[in-house]
Amino acid sequence: KPLKIAVVPGDGIGVEVMPWGVQCLKEISELYNIPLYFEEFDFASVPFYKKHGDMLPRDWKTTLSQFDAIYFGAVGMPDELPDEVTLWGSLLKFRREFDQYINLRPCRLIAGVKSPLADRKPGDIDFWIVRENTEGEYSQIGGKMFEGTDREIVMQETVMTRFGVDRVLKYAFDLAQSRPRKKLTSATKSNGISTTMPWWDSRVREMATKYPDVNVDKYHIDILTAHFVQKPNIFDVVVGSNLFGDILSDLGPACTGTIGIAPSANINPEGKFPSLFEPVHGSAPDIAGKGIANPVGMIWAGQMLLHHFGHTSAAAALLQAMENVLGRSDPGVLTADMGGKGTTKILGEAIVGEIRGF
Ligand code: NAI
Ligand code: MG
Repeated sequence: KPLKIAVVPGDGIGVEVMPWGVQCLKEISELYNIPLYFEEFDFASVPFYKKHGDMLPRDWKTTLSQFDAIYFGAVGMPDELPDEVTLWGSLLKFRREFDQYINLRPCRLIAGVKSPLADRKPGDIDFWIVRENTEGEYSQIGGKMFEGTDREIVMQETVMTRFGVDRVLKYAFDLAQSRPRKKLTSATKSNGISTTMPWWDSRVREMATKYPDVNVDKYHIDILTAHFVQKPNIFDVVVGSNLFGDILSDLGPACTGTIGIAPSANINPEGKFPSLFEPVHGSAPDIAGKGIANPVGMIWAGQMLLHHFGHTSAAAALLQAMENVLGRSDPGVLTADMGGKGTTKILGEAIVGEIRGF
């Protein structure tokens, strides 16, 4: 049975990098005999909105529910439509309605990519960040009183549920157990946040009893961010609440290079709903239409898709193809964000060519 992939390029450079993501997936799946089925959709974009007055068709949930995965480019054109309309009207609906409660990002140093941590070698940094994606600090519960006066009060609650926290911890422990180092680091702040964070720690301790072979540690979020920069080699799988995970999942990839290469997955692990794979970057209106966007974030997101659905050899090969091309540091091939003069097409073709050479 083929893996069904809904292709949603979206706006701006999403449309420019998507063909290379799809092309790489097609090439690698042919090599490894993985049947993939692609169908492309024009919704979740500003042009679709201009035509139909909404970001999505009315039956979008039924349509997308028939797929295993959504391969997503980027959405948003802030000069034409506010982000509240574009992002809240599409991507954020997918995440919420499809209960994608895991946000997963790799943090991996790649040869040839300039990193602020220049003294590190590839292999030194290679870990995963698992973020809780549905509850925690980003709750809708709170309010304001005495607005505009000297007595003004604002508050917003953190909501953690046993169901919500245990399921993200289980995912993170499973991931750690599947890796050679079998190490899990929990982000906490139980020395400052006196109810939710000590409770989070207790859920981690309880989950750890089911994974005796996983080595567990925890750091307060402040020192943890310092360790991301100073000792990134100590991490294997890092798990955090919605807010802490949000911060770490931008910091980690930033430490390993340009935003143009970073991928991200929003996962519903049970497969009850489709999971979504996307580059971390947005639609980049400043460079859209110029043909110079880095396609690696999009291609790497496709690599995560293969890995998520258990095609680990194909995923490893696709990662190798990207790393081989970037590792050659050919300025004619690398895009401008990586210090080169290459175009989306030149870099995309180089990675496709690398796969064909396997
Ligand atoms: P952005 O990620 O689109 O761009 C930030 C900067 O990074 C820009 O200078 C851009 O040129 C550069 N950049 C991004 N991706 C690149 C690539 N592949 N190659 C080379 N350079 C790249 O973030 P920005 O400008 O804040 O947002 C633009 C629009 O995208 C907004 O409407 C925003 O809401 C939306 N957005 C959508 C996301 C999504 O669909 N998941 C994620 C982030 C932003
Ligand atoms: Mg963020």
